[in-house]
Amino acid sequence: MPDIPAIQPRYTRDNLTSLQSYILNEEQKHPEATGEFSWIMSAIALAGKTIGNKVRRARIEDVLGAHGDTNVHGEEQQKLDVIANEIIMRCLGDRANIAVLASEEDEQPKVLRDRSEGGRYCVLFDPLDGSSNLDVSVGVGTIFSILRNERRKPRDIPHYLQPGNRQVAAGYILYGSSTVFVVTTGNGVSMFVLDQSIGAFVLVEENIRIPKAKKVYSINEAYRDDFPRGYIEYLKWAHTAGYSSRYIGSFVADLHRSLLKGGVFLYPPTRTHTDGKLRLVYEANPMAMIIEQAGGKAVSGLQRIQDIRTTALHQRTSVVIGSPDEVDAVTKFFDAYSATFEDAAEAV
Ligand code: AHG
Ligand code: MN
Ligand code: MN
Repeated sequence: MPDIPAIQPRYTRDNLTSLQSYILNEEQKHPEATGEFSWIMSAIALAGKTIGNKVRRARIEDVLGAHGDTNVHGEEQQKLDVIANEIIMRCLGDRANIAVLASEEDEQPKVLRDRSEGGRYCVLFDPLDGSSNLDVSVGVGTIFSILRNERRKPRDIPHYLQPGNRQVAAGYILYGSSTVFVVTTGNGVSMFVLDQSIGAFVLVEENIRIPKAKKVYSINEAYRDDFPRGYIEYLKWAHTAGYSSRYIGSFVADLHRSLLKGGVFLYPPTRTHTDGKLRLVYEANPMAMIIEQAGGKAVSGLQRIQDIRTTALHQRTSVVIGSPDEVDAVTKFFDAYSATFEDAAEAV
């Protein structure tokens, strides 16, 4: 019997780089950085490992299904939405440099400390994205966005309501066939995979570049007749231009596929969600930063997502995000047709 070669873990680089050492390395590049950043990233990594463990054991520990409450959006909370939210609060709450924790699951943000007490960063997050897929073991994730706790003008605007172009870092953790941590601190996009055998996120890809073009669109076509005309006309064209469709129903999973393989993800305005369904500050902005850092585009109709003025923690936006050529192929239709219902009203 030929002896079977031992399976060696394959990392993209000779050395074994953990998320922590990678972030510390990144901080060396920013003279003004004070090492506080790695504190936050290690807390997010700890939360990701803990949530991932809960997600994988959900059926065994009987924490699937609805929690029995609705959240601020009037959506039915899954038990794991609440559990994930508590895990993140517990992991991040004790980091002395965090001023504000703002969650999709809480109407109001948690203000921990102000600048004078050392609160330097605001962390905004969707603790569990795609949670309606949990019961059927489809990929779900956690999305996070990090802002500096800066004074805003006018002074009465809360520090956590800044446009996406002010993010200092953004990322997501995808609990899929493997647990993947994707992050950018403004110098490209890096990907880590959780190596369960050593309990650490290890670097597998650096400076990820999204394919310039790929004929795949990702949209919930069930609502097609409800979209503004520009999206309807784009879909009509795509149906004759050799596109295929992929839609998982978890933004993190659909986005991760688009990042690695190319394509375009769309969540247009609908009659039910006239501004779009996805939330700006903890879903669209962080994913827009990731995709733009990888060479892609992220717009809401005709406006860059990261330039949208943030007026409310749970404000929504429409999303067209992915390969640059594929986003352009969508927005081309907005020159002749409406991208929002207001446009359509004006056009009458
Ligand atoms: P969440 O589970 O955090 O509420 O997010 C669900 C979002 C997003 O993950 C996904 O792209 C979208 O809802 C799917 O919406 P539809 O079911 O309307 O297609
Ligand atoms: Mn979500
Ligand atoms: Mn969620």
